Amino acid sequence: KILILDFGSQYTQLIARRVRESHVYCELHPYDMGLEEIKAFGAKGIILSGGPKSVYDEGAPAIEEELFELGIPVLGICYGMQLMSRHFGGEVIAAGKREYGHAELQSVGTPGPLFDGFFADGKSPVWMSHGDHVEKMPEGFEMIAKTANAPVCGIQNVARNLYGVQFHPEVNHTPRGDALINTFVRKICGCSGSWTPGQIIEDAVARIKEQVGSDQVILGLSGGVDSSVAAALIHKAIGDQLHCVFVDNGLLRLDEGDQVMATFASNMGVKVTRVNAQQRFYDALAGETDPEKKRKIIGNLFVDIFEEESNKLKDAKWLAQGTIYPDVIESAGAKTGKAHNIKSHHNVGGLPDYMKLQLLEPLRELFKDEVRTVGEELGLPHQMVWRHPFPGPGLGVRILGEVKEEYCEILRRADAIYIEELYESGHYHKISQAFAVFLPVKSVGVMGDGRTYEYVVALRAVETKDFMTAGWYPMPYADLARISNRIINEVKGINRVTYDISSKPPATIEWE
Ligand code: XMP
Repeated sequence: KILILDFGSQYTQLIARRVRESHVYCELHPYDMGLEEIKAFGAKGIILSGGPKSVYDEGAPAIEEELFELGIPVLGICYGMQLMSRHFGGEVIAAGKREYGHAELQSVGTPGPLFDGFFADGKSPVWMSHGDHVEKMPEGFEMIAKTANAPVCGIQNVARNLYGVQFHPEVNHTPRGDALINTFVRKICGCSGSWTPGQIIEDAVARIKEQVGSDQVILGLSGGVDSSVAAALIHKAIGDQLHCVFVDNGLLRLDEGDQVMATFASNMGVKVTRVNAQQRFYDALAGETDPEKKRKIIGNLFVDIFEEESNKLKDAKWLAQGTIYPDVIESAGAKTGKAHNIKSHHNVGGLPDYMKLQLLEPLRELFKDEVRTVGEELGLPHQMVWRHPFPGPGLGVRILGEVKEEYCEILRRADAIYIEELYESGHYHKISQAFAVFLPVKSVGVMGDGRTYEYVVALRAVETKDFMTAGWYPMPYADLARISNRIINEVKGINRVTYDISSKPPATIEWE
């Protein structure tokens, strides 16, 4: 396995993703991890990330420099390379010109093991993002690459297995970057590449069995990717010792409740209790128009219902959750105040601390893409596994203002048509998230010979990498025309459809 030490670069998670894509397990830890802990971790290689600081800044993140003496291969990226250079007597200076964006890397001397196959005709396009650069070479190192703006962009000490790059191999803008990371982890560090979906499942199943023994486990199934994959995985490990609770809150998408039951209960033989709590949610939401209060009502009622159900299962000792690796990294970042943005929304599924229940989180180490491939490998339907994200409060935040059952019914049908059309026209998987929004205003229309006075639906489709910023999807007019036609013709209660052309920021993805 590989250890990644995080110096606060916005790209650190991408390093971890690239390593995992090489089928090598890795973990991301804060830069100040102690030397003993580093040794105990037992990594076959260490990657030092980039970071926003200059190595000479006061309070600049430093490391236990002895890690260079452990005999473990190290790859320093950007700030990581600068730290390595300084440790070995090199000199880092503030560059006259900041270098940001595309650059052409030039080969210097013989490429060496890390850069094997990286250059074509002595050149390779890379992505740069730095102010400082290495001016004087560290002792015992060879220079292997430069750009027009930075004299030292790649260094190596092959005998000691120490490597540094000034550019960012982890981002997609460095076309051969993934191959470089693959070379480092597989060839230089000698990792075997056994981190495949099949192996992940096998390991997880063994671990769940060992952890849980003959205890009973309870899991709140939402139909979302994470809880679904967690359920499938735990079921594979312990079968009927897993009890899922699926709360139908009346705010789900068309036929979603039936689909969840069909997939898990009928097809996979998972024990699932469906709680039909639709009316309780509608009653609790009646008269409330404030988005944050609606979120609270929905979240609290979910917790109450989940507690009622889990109390019926007296001997449950474990609470299973679909926590994934980015959640773990984010909450660690939030705790230490280091790096990483904190998501503005957390799942309403956050449960109170059940004193008696222990947490079982079999996806804690996985990135979303890995969760999806594991889900497919476990036999979950492709559409379920690759579905767009859906907020915990569901249609509750897609119906502006007061939530009513009637509005839910209308919105569900409009949304289903929209999504069906996106699948059929091939747009669905190019879009990060798409959905319909119900606007509780009436406008005048004409249908046949009659005047209509009905509600409005807005369609939203966005492209985004991280959901923190997003652009609206440039949907072709012909597709918009067809979708709008179908919705107005097929959904009673709607006589007008609009398309949302707002980006985030300043708008948000959801309307509430
Ligand atoms: P916004 O609307 O803030 O949404 O641009 C960003 C992402 O978060 C999702 N979202 C939520 N997810 N509970 C959730 O579990 C919520 O209350 C919530 N609000 C927004 C939204 O769907 C998008 O993916």
